[in-house]
Amino acid sequence: MERTFLMVKPDGVQRNLIGSIVQRFEDKGYQLVAAKLMTIEQSLAETHYEEHKERPFYNELVSFITSGPVFAMVWEGEGAIAGAREMMGATNPQEASPGTIRGDFGQQVSKNIIHGSDSPESAAREIGLFFDEKELVSYDKSI
Ligand code: CMP
Repeated sequence: MERTFLMVKPDGVQRNLIGSIVQRFEDKGYQLVAAKLMTIEQSLAETHYEEHKERPFYNELVSFITSGPVFAMVWEGEGAIAGAREMMGATNPQEASPGTIRGDFGQQVSKNIIHGSDSPESAAREIGLFFDEKELVSYDKSI
């Protein structure tokens, strides 16, 4: 079963979208493995976004993601990495289709509501950055 890292960004938290976003992934049938409300420290933000270090918007990106609490999550499901990305929609909310999270809730690329891992490698890396192994909860949903 595949795991992915998803994070409601500071704009989504401030706009009270945590519940609506969690509902979508629950409705999809993915299983919540871990979740926490947290404020990201500068060093974690820089590590998390290090692949964008040379981009002109890097400083803005780090500054925004540390500007207020985020809701970090790990979800599990069949094809959850690509599936969650589909549900999030295009990075730029102006290009995201209606029915997707960014298409329904966002307007600006810099405030695009949610982050999600884009590959198995980034999922493993991001889950490890944000969660200790003991915070990942596996359970039988048939109980
Ligand atoms: P995210 O999925 O968190 O990964 C990198 C982020 O960079 C992306 O979402 C956007 O929020 C942000 N981003 C991408 N392009 C731009 C841009 N041109 N200006 C500002 N932020 C951007």
